[in-house]
Amino acid sequence: MLLYGAGGHAKVVLDCLMEQGVSINGIFDDKSDLVSLNGYDVLGKYDEHSFEEDQVIITIGDNTTRKNLVQKIKHKFGKIAHPSAIMSKYVQIGEGSVVFHGCILQTGVRIGKHCIINTGASLDHDVTVGDFAHISPKVTLCDVVEIGEGTHIGAGATILPKITVGKWCVVGAGAVITQNLPDYSLVVGVPGKIIRRTDDQ
Ligand SMILES: CC(C)(COP(=O)(O)OP(=O)(O)OC[C@H]1O[C@@H](n2cnc3c(N)ncnc32)[C@H](O)[C@@H]1OP(=O)(O)O)[C@@H](O)C(=O)NCCC(=O)NCCS
Repeated sequence: MLLYGAGGHAKVVLDCLMEQGVSINGIFDDKSDLVSLNGYDVLGKYDEHSFEEDQVIITIGDNTTRKNLVQKIKHKFGKIAHPSAIMSKYVQIGEGSVVFHGCILQTGVRIGKHCIINTGASLDHDVTVGDFAHISPKVTLCDVVEIGEGTHIGAGATILPKITVGKWCVVGAGAVITQNLPDYSLVVGVPGKIIRRTDDQ
């Protein structure tokens, strides 16, 4: 496996890969001056001919950056779940996605491509998470919730049953979402209120 992005998020993904016994050949990073990260080589700029047979996971926390990088990567994409995650056998996880320590993914959960399901998140039955979304630590997604592409759910937020959160939204840490949210909503509070759009200049 190869990673792309040598920051803090990559360190957690490295832990997941090590725990699963996956061999790791290095980490691309277009900007970092590091030569190694937690004992693994930082390889410099992305090179499509480097370890061509390996898969890549994009280990950058920003959802838009992950989406933009997908276009230029020629390797196949990998995915990983930490062994402490509890997952129904009826869970689907898309390429490039990562599921961190202590998550619970119930039956019928579908995770898109290049998502981050962060530490201790709880996804109840039949939840859908769109591509490039980030579900932060300790988030609760109740049953049949739908999360749109690129949306970031902040730490500890709760989304009530059957709610749809649109694309490229940001839900503030600790919010409780009681109503469907249109695309590009930025929401904080309990109950959650829209305070602006995420695509405002
Ligand atoms: C919601 C969030 C994105 C807003 O960030 P921002 O655009 O920089 O907004 P500001 O800090 O300017 O705050 C705007 C207003 O919302 C309030 N606010 C911000 N975050 C809030 C939150 N989580 N809950 C309640 N109110 C919040 C601020 O107090 C401020 O209120 P005011 O206008 O009355 O002063 C951010 O505060 C947040 O919660 N991010 C989630 C971070 C997270 O969970 N990361 C996990 C990484 S693993």
